[in-house]
This record gives sequence, C-alpha cells and structure tokens, in this order.
Amino acid sequence: MRKILVTSALPYANGPLHLGHIIEAVQTDIWVRLQKMLGHDCLYVCAEDAHGTPIMIRAQSEGVTPEALIERVAAEHARDYAGFLIEHDQFHSTHSDENRELATSMYARLRDAGYITRRPVRQAYDEQAGMFLPDRYVKGGCPSCGTPGQYGDSCEHCGATYSPADLVNPVSTISGSVPVWRESDHIFFRLGAFEEMLRGWLATDALQPGVRAKLDEWFDAGLKDWDISRDAPYFGFGIPDEPGKYFYVWFDAPIGYLASLRALCERTGRSFDEYMRPDSRAGLYHFIGKDISYFHTLFWPAVLQGSGFRKPTAVYVHGFLTVNGQKMSKSRGTFITARRYLEHLPPEPLRYYFAAKLGPDLDDIDLNLDDLVARVNSDIVGKLVNIASRCAGFVARGGGRLAGTLPQPALYAEFAGARAGIAALYEARDYAAAIREIMLFADRANQYVDQHKPWTLAKDPARAAEVLGIATQGINLFRVLMTWLAPVLPRIAAEAGRFLGVPIDRWDAVASPLLAVPINAFQPLATRLDRKAVEALVAPEAPAGAAAGPADRPAAGTIDIRDFAKLDLRVAKIMRAALVEGSDKLLRLELDLGGETRTVFSGIRAAYAPEQLQGRLVLMVANLAPRKMRFGVSEGMVLCASGADDSQGLFLLSPDSGAVPGMKVT
Ligand code: MSP
Ligand code: ZN
Repeated sequence: MRKILVTSALPYANGPLHLGHIIEAVQTDIWVRLQKMLGHDCLYVCAEDAHGTPIMIRAQSEGVTPEALIERVAAEHARDYAGFLIEHDQFHSTHSDENRELATSMYARLRDAGYITRRPVRQAYDEQAGMFLPDRYVKGGCPSCGTPGQYGDSCEHCGATYSPADLVNPVSTISGSVPVWRESDHIFFRLGAFEEMLRGWLATDALQPGVRAKLDEWFDAGLKDWDISRDAPYFGFGIPDEPGKYFYVWFDAPIGYLASLRALCERTGRSFDEYMRPDSRAGLYHFIGKDISYFHTLFWPAVLQGSGFRKPTAVYVHGFLTVNGQKMSKSRGTFITARRYLEHLPPEPLRYYFAAKLGPDLDDIDLNLDDLVARVNSDIVGKLVNIASRCAGFVARGGGRLAGTLPQPALYAEFAGARAGIAALYEARDYAAAIREIMLFADRANQYVDQHKPWTLAKDPARAAEVLGIATQGINLFRVLMTWLAPVLPRIAAEAGRFLGVPIDRWDAVASPLLAVPINAFQPLATRLDRKAVEALVAPEAPAGAAAGPADRPAAGTIDIRDFAKLDLRVAKIMRAALVEGSDKLLRLELDLGGETRTVFSGIRAAYAPEQLQGRLVLMVANLAPRKMRFGVSEGMVLCASGADDSQGLFLLSPDSGAVPGMKVT
C-alpha cells in the first residue's frame, strides 16, 4: 500500500470556478479515486488561495472585508466542487492559522540558511490610492508597437514583455491617476542557490518532457532571485521583523498545500512529518495548469528543500480548456462557470468527456458541445448502460438471482485480466487511452449479448437456464466495465453497485465474477443528453424569471425579455480617449471591461473632449460584433442619450458611483 498526497492548484478566492478549474479538479479526482480503488492510502487536499492585491481590491469595490469576501467565495467553490463530485479529503484556506505558522517558520528557516536577501525595488506607486501597483494594475501604450491600453507586463497585441516603467502614458487602473515611481526595500529568495539541485530533480521523471523543455529555457535565461515581499496595503501575512511588508501571495500559496495537509492531520491524527520530512517515502503529486509551472517546478521545490522538507514526487501539468475551439471568453458566451453548467446538466457527462480527451501531456483540450452530446449518448447510454438494461430483465424474470456459473468464463477472464493495463493507463494520466480501451471492451460485451439473442431464446421456456446464463455473463461484463469507469463516473458506479447488491469500490474485486447472488431491480443509470440543454450553456443567459413557453410570444412592435437578454450590456471604464485623425465625429476610446480591454470608435467628438473622459464610467454593448472601420476595428458601442437628431446634444450614460467595470446592466 502506497501513501500518497495529491493536490490540485488552489483556486483564487475572488471569482467563481469555471470549466477550466473543473477540468483540473476532474483530472485530479479521477487519479485519486483510482488510487483509492487500488487500495492505496491516498489523500487529496486543496484550499482557497485567499491572499493578494486582486482580492483586496475586489473586497474594497464590494464594500466588504477581504475575510468576508473569501468566506463567501469559499462556500460557492465548495458547492461547485461537490456538484462535480470532486472529493477532497481536506479543503482549507491559505488565510488560516496553519498557513501563517508554516509560511512564517519556512521563511525563518530560509533566512537562517542564508537564502534570503534584500534590495530596493523601484515600482509604480498610485499616490491617490496610496499603494504600490502590481504590473497588471498599470496600463498604457506598448513601448514596442504603440498599442494603447496594454498591461504593465506584456502586450496582448504584439506579445512584447517589458516593465511598467516602459509604458507610454501609464495610468493606474485603480484610481485612473498617473503613477509615480518609488523605491522600497524588497525581500528576495535566492533561487539561483538551488540550480544544481533543480537540475538533478529535472533529470528524474518528476516532470513531463514538455515541462522539462520549458525548464531548460529558464535555466538558459538564468535563475533570478525571486521577490517574495509586497508593501502595505496588502491582504496577506505580515513578514516577521519587517514592518509594513507582507509575503507575496505566491510565496504562501503553495505552502497552502501543506497547511491543508496539516489541518487534515490534526483532524484525523495522521502524522504530517511522515509526508513531509526530507526522507519521506510517501508520494507527493501536484496537478496544475501550464500557466503556473514556473512556480511549481522551480520556486516550490527550492523553497521546500531550503526549508528542510522533501520535494514533490512529480508535478503533473495539463493544457488549457477551450470551448468550441476558442479561448473561454465572457463576451463570446464561452466562459462557462461551474454553476452555470450544473444548472443545465448533470456532472458525469462532462467528467466522462474530459476523461475521454485528457492525455498525459500539455496539449490544450477543446470542449466541443456537439461532440459532448454525441459521445455521452453513444458511449455511456448506448454502450455501457445498455448492457445492464438489456440483461437485467432476464435475471428478474428468472427469479432475480444470477446463475451459478458463467457460460463463457474465458471471456470474463479476458475482461478481468485487462484491469492492470487499464489502471496503468489511468496512473500515467492517459485517460483518453483508458477510455478508448474500455469502450472497445464495451463493444465486445454488447456483441456478446447481440450474438446470443436472449430475447429470442426467452420465448422458449425450456431454455430459461440458458437465458439466465447469458444475462449473468452480460451483467458480469458490465460490472467489470463499471469498475473501470468508477473513477470517472462515481455516482453512476454507486447506483450500479446498488443494482448489483455489491459496492463498486475495489479494482481487484472483479478478479472473480458475481454468481448465484440476488440482484436488485434495474433503474436507469443515465439518460441521454438533450442537445437543447447543452446549447443553453453558451446561449446568452435569460434573466431569472423570464418565461420560455411559446404561448407568450411578444405582441407586434414589442420585444420579449429574451430579445432583451441577447444584449450584453456592461459597465466599462474609459481608460483613454483620443482624437481620430481624419474624422471630426469620432473619438477612439480604450475601455476597461473588468479585466478585458476594448477599443471602441464613438461618434461623440462634438460633445466631449478626450481629456474629459479619462476614468469615466459608461455603459456599453459588449457583444456587438466587431466592426471594421476606416480607422480600425470597433469592438462594441457606448450608450448615449440624444434627441431625434444630435442637435439637442449627446449625453453619455453612466451608472451611479460605486459601480465597477464589468458589471452587467439589466
Ligand atoms: N491561485 C493560483 C494557484 C496557486 S497553487 C499554489 C491560480 N489560481 S487560478 O484560479 O487562476 O487557477 C487555478 C488552476 O486552474 C490553475 O492550475 C490553472 O492553470 C487552472 N486553469 C485556469 N484556467 C484554465 C483553463 N482555461 N483550462 C485549464 N486549466 C485552467 O493560478
Ligand atoms: Zn505591443
């Protein structure tokens, strides 16, 4: 029996879970459930990532304390994970006593061992807001290609990376004011001191080839000291003996894995050291997305080693989820939250679909909604459940008890004998290959039933024993398939276990068939997916209470609430306004839509001078198809009031103060 600790990345506590988070949780959960079925002592821990500037700012804009915000979001996250049947052994928070204690003591050990150094850093400072600005909170023109409205670290247009000091006309996204440059002492972790250790760790099979290649690039670029401090105001843990300084959120975030383990150990009486001491024989596996591999494959092993703990056994990196071939995007309707999915559909079809697409490498995974419907209906309903539903009736009519022997024991042995191979595919995270293999076996099980036609034989009462034998064989093959799919479809497996009268929870239980035992009445285990319900996932969401029946078609000359709901109206903030050369009507507006930037050409030049507009909130139509104009592409429209013609003037519409960019207008 192996002792194994497994984690998935800690979701930020400032927003809802979306299907990108869910694919990671499902990938991890399947792996953990497999280990448990194999009889290993496997723990799955996770937590809220509760610290950092975005959470602080979000709480401010909602007028609540950060503690209240993270508590509310944690409850939503817990509900959504449970909705997708994700079974954490512990779900904790980085804003916890355990994490404070661990972060502080690990920092002290790093410092005492000489891995900490300090030096001044010059950084953008917002005098109005009274705070230093993280790179993402400064926007301006790209120093390389000139595109306005770019973040302080990189340009979305040309891909250049730079520091916020290089931006043309920088502004703070917090107050809209022009930042100044200030120096302050920062505390650094000397990553370079661990280069040799990291190169050695790299050479083990802790990492996928795609990740190793990336690491080689980082080694070539040189391992830089890592800034682990932030100045007040900040939501996080204060650094001991460093007044006004806080641990950077990414310092205490991975430590949150250990805090969660510690909380679990305290609750259950397990030994934390057994998992974390340098010579621990327990496995430590981190599942993460490719955007955060730098933190997990360089900083984290170095911090662990430097503070006297063991290193991860492996870091498993997955690619990104796209929807219908596109990056998830709010304006395209392809940003699907976990909640929205669960309002329309059950969790297991998506778990199955993700499993069928997840390979062991870093490739992106596309959620194609037509493909989801087709696969689930053909594989789960058409192949898997079908075997049981076809055979169950014959057992019921034969007295409700399985036959005492199998007519084809060799066929059963072949199925049962494949279990080690299937487990190995799951273990190697090649779920796609595991599912392909399982479905080939499902085809064979269906062929078996087709060939023996129990429904024909059943017409002859003299052949009742033969019919029961065929049904018993079919149900036993079903039991093997269901066991293999139990990590993916845990609820269906539990129901199948009730049907069979024995739980489906051990991989090796299928070593011997189920014979001469009573089984229960068959209940449908899964139903076909309705294409309409799936389409609703990406359709504009109708406001609550909107009627849906055809009876209430709108009267001529009116629209109904669903027509209105097609408009994605949002609050946006004008980051920059500029004259458009060659046009006396238009202004070019750079709008912040709450994290997303849009360029809109608006015919308001007669009414407004560009400098009046900077920082102002407006209302915009966010899902207007982009329009190519002579001066560039306009990505939306801002709303104005005016008379029959413009002679009475133009008046931009704005929400009352307190509204923030990105809010929906309903
Ligand atoms: N809080 C950090 C992780 C700290 S771990 C010590 C973070 N949070 S996150 O909420 O932004 O992302 C959590 C996980 O979800 C990450 O592993 C990230 O890669 C993953 N995903 C976020 N969007 C994703 C997709 N579209 N597709 C797949 N995974 C994605 O980063
Ligand atoms: Zn650029």
